Order: sequence, then C-alpha cells, then structure tokens
Amino acid sequence: MKHNLYPEFKNLFNKEVGNAWFSPGRVNLIGEHIDYNGGLVMPCAITFGTYVVAALNNDNVFRFRSLNFDDKLDIPLQPEYKKTGESWFNYPLGIIEYFLKDGHQLQGLDLLYYGDIPISSGLSSSASIEVVTAYALNELFNCGYSKLELVKLAKEVENVFIGVNCGIMDQFAVAFGEKDKALMLNCDTLDYKAVDTNLAEYVLAIINTNKPRKLAESKYNERVQECQAALKALQQELDIQNLCDIDTATFKRHEHLITDAVVLKRATHVIEENDRVKLAAEALAGGDLAEFGKLMYASHDSLKNLYEVSGKELDAVVEYSKTNPNVAGARMTGAGFGGCAIALVKENAFDKFSEEVTAYYIAKVGYAPSVYSSLIGDGVGLLKTNITVE
Ligand code: GLA
Repeated sequence: MKHNLYPEFKNLFNKEVGNAWFSPGRVNLIGEHIDYNGGLVMPCAITFGTYVVAALNNDNVFRFRSLNFDDKLDIPLQPEYKKTGESWFNYPLGIIEYFLKDGHQLQGLDLLYYGDIPISSGLSSSASIEVVTAYALNELFNCGYSKLELVKLAKEVENVFIGVNCGIMDQFAVAFGEKDKALMLNCDTLDYKAVDTNLAEYVLAIINTNKPRKLAESKYNERVQECQAALKALQQELDIQNLCDIDTATFKRHEHLITDAVVLKRATHVIEENDRVKLAAEALAGGDLAEFGKLMYASHDSLKNLYEVSGKELDAVVEYSKTNPNVAGARMTGAGFGGCAIALVKENAFDKFSEEVTAYYIAKVGYAPSVYSSLIGDGVGLLKTNITVE
C-alpha cells in the first residue's frame, strides 16, 4: 500500500506540515558482537528506514502516531518520562526524556512515523527510530547537538531507558552511513572511514529469517556480561580496557586466565572476529571478494559455535549458501537469535539464489524467508520533498 505522509499527517492532526526526516536501518558486513568490546565493525546504512513527519503544537502534548502500529500515545509535557510497556513509542519517548535531562526546553509535538524496515529483523529498526527522532528534535528545537552527540544520546536511550546494553554500531551506522560505502568504525575511539563497497559482479542479498527475536534482549545482555567477565580475568595480567585491545596471538598466551569454558569461547570469538575485520578490510580494498566471502563464512561459524547466537534458521541460510558456487560468502548480521543473514551473490545469479534459498529454508524450517537485494544508502537527514512510501 502506498502512503503519502504529508496528507496522512493532515488527516490525523488537521494541519499542514512541511518537514520530514528519514533514518535508515543497517546491515553489518562483518565484525559482530564486538562493538561493545571496543572492536572494529563494518556496517552500511540501507535504503529501508524510518520516516517521521513532525510539527510543533501549542498544547504542551506529545502525540505519537504510526502508520505501522495501531497503538498510539498522547502524553503531556512533563519533567520526566519512564518506559511503559513494550510499545514502539517508548523509543521516541526515551529520546525526549534525554533531551529534557540535558536541560533543553521542549514544546508539544505532533509526530507521525512510518517504517519499512521489517520489525525484529535485526536491521536496527530501534536505532533508526531513535536516531530519526533525535535528529528531528535537534533541528526543531535548535539544540545544537553534533551528529556524534546525537548518536551517543540515542545509544544511552537504548541502554538505560529501553534496557538493552548494545554497543554504538547501530546508532552510528544509521547516522553516518553513506551511499555505496561501508563504515570502518573503531568502536573504541569512534574514528571511522567510509570505504567503497565495490562488490564487482556481486550484490548484497539480505535474507530475513522471519523468525522474531524473542530472547534477543536477555541473551544479548548475557553475552555482554560474559565479555566483561573475560576482560576482568585477562586484566589480571594485561593492561587493557577492552577485549579487542589484543590480537589473537596475544590472547592465546593469556587465555589460561579465563577459567570458565563458556566465557573462554565468547572471548575467543570476540578477539578472532576483530582480527577477521582487519583482513576483510584488506580484502575489500583489494577487490578480493572471494577472500571477503570466506571471512564471512568464518564469522558465521564462530557466531554459531563459539558465541552461540545463531539458530537453525540463520544456519539454514548459510548452509545453503555454501552449496551455491555463485555465493562468495554468507553470515548472520546483527545480534542474531533470528533476524537476518546477508550473502554476497553474483548479480546474474540472484534470482536463482532467491528461489533456491527459499526452497531450502522452507524444507528445513517450515515457512518462507524474505529475500531482498539490498541497496546501500545514506544516513539520517531532512527530506525536502513530499514522501510517498510503500
Ligand atoms: C545489535 C546491537 C549492536 C551490536 C550487534 C551485534 O545490533 O545493537 O550494538 O552489538 O547487535 O554486533
């Protein structure tokens, strides 16, 4: 169904509006579960994302509406907000709370959201709605935050207001993403470089397992704690602040300090994955997509066996990919426990890939995945024109 956002806004709020903002979602090419360990990651913004149309009101009320969800909220401007239930509007409410906490004077707002990122697909719909709201508020109220400050604020909202101890990758990627580029981001220093994603004869496929990530939040926080335990053990001998401060060779010399077998597996994944990102960056720069693909498979195997965040759905996509000579590599992307996988597929073999992976997946899992050919797009921004979305 096509939506024209400005007329929809007028129907809902009975007034004209002139401004809309967009923030994309993201995929991560490689470097998984290492952003909160000070590692290197390689995300790209995608062309799916979240739109918000917003206008000030004089009623001192925040009115949240969405074209995706029936639940809505009207809440008066007040000194403090808390998360209530699991509804989507907690994300923008959390952003408002953090603007108020920072001492900004706000006024009532009418907000209409629309998103085309499949929900719970691991493509960062939450970072997308957080960042688009923060960006819009910053412009509407002239708060003077830099983009990096907005990214940090949005991450804080996710960590404290929402309660997921995520790293900074998603908020950073959806804010700073650039068309046809991947961001080589150092999550410790926040230095980054936008590098060309020259995929030659390949395209990036996104395969949504359509499995909702039910346990994702609790398991995610558990992994963060396991990494903290590993770091603490290594700090008995090493002067490090993050697991990714050391490479695999150094880790091997000190791994005996970690006595818990599960924690050891988690740390091994993190440190080896960080080394893989460095190799992947070289492979991409040198146009060696075969090597890049091998590193993707290695990353997936490690996330499956050592980090234990995959599952039969994501594994089915990767298993099939390994049998197809037109696929250079595939892996789960994002937090895992369902969500999406990505694959580097030869462009002229994409349709066949899509059919075959779907058939394989249905046979293994019992229902169909969704397969997209992804375009790498720009990060958050103001949209000047009227917006028609599907
Ligand atoms: C989620 C988190 C990110 C990152 C990934 C795993 O997307 O929000 O911070 O940890 O999982 O790499």
